[in-house]
Amino acid sequence: MVEAFAVASGKGGTGKTTSTLALGMALAEEHDVTVVDADTGMANLLFHAGLAEVDVTLHDVLAGDAPTDAAAYERFGMRVVPCGTSLAGFRDADPERLRSVVADLARDTDVLLLDSPAALGSKSAILPVVLADRVVVVLNPTVPSLSDALKVQEYARSYGTDTAGVLFNRVRDDGAIDRVAEQAERYFDGPTLGTVPESDAVQSGRQAGEPLLAHAPDSPAARAYREAAATLEVRSGAAEDVAARFRSAVVPDPP
Ligand SMILES: Nc1ncnc2c1ncn2[C@@H]1O[C@H](COP(=O)(O)OP(=O)(O)OP(=O)(O)O)[C@@H](O)[C@H]1O
Ligand SMILES: [Mg+2]
Repeated sequence: MVEAFAVASGKGGTGKTTSTLALGMALAEEHDVTVVDADTGMANLLFHAGLAEVDVTLHDVLAGDAPTDAAAYERFGMRVVPCGTSLAGFRDADPERLRSVVADLARDTDVLLLDSPAALGSKSAILPVVLADRVVVVLNPTVPSLSDALKVQEYARSYGTDTAGVLFNRVRDDGAIDRVAEQAERYFDGPTLGTVPESDAVQSGRQAGEPLLAHAPDSPAARAYREAAATLEVRSGAAEDVAARFRSAVVPDPP
């Protein structure tokens, strides 16, 4: 069985990479999880996951220089596929190859989490949302962030990708979340999966190159991610069907 989620947002810096790894580790308690840094132009998942020194990354696979397995690393109870950070690596990478990479990975996992780029303006940026079964929308508790996130939902929907849920991140205890969450319930197709507090543990985990759930598993933020993961009901698709769908996906031109 396999379900693919794109972890996406409107603007950058909402916490997609943090959330991809945190949800991945939480889901890995029950499922075989693979996380992929599909933000191939501005990759940084490798820094969050202590993989900055690895030899082979998704860039090599997308350039046709390495098989998918060579860029998959067993870390933190998951399979992690980091992407390189060089401009040359991005230039040589063929974004359309992501389809076959995801198809390869789908054969051998229950949950695929695609850490997605922020802007939806290029082929490499829209692919994760197009390929995924559902999108987890990460947003900060402000009205502009909500408005961006709604655009992501609208965009995803136009490619048949449902909303799995909405995850509020960097929430401060100032009451603003209540107002925004109430609006979110009205406008999003999926439930609010959780509200993750602003937390120093997130920053220090990032600096240590460890996902939050490894770095500070008992922090309130880690607890919020575990609750969010429990709310996310993973659906099962036949791995071969999913792989075939990814392989044959037509990559649309960006809007
Ligand atoms: N709950 C939080 N509390 C404090 N800092 C946070 C929290 N979530 C994320 N951050 C910090 O915010 C920054 C951006 O987070 P992250 O890299 O996960 O966002 P992103 O959406 O993936 O960004 P980009 O769009 O650049 O890929 C990081 O420095 C991270 O440590
Ligand atoms: Mg990111």
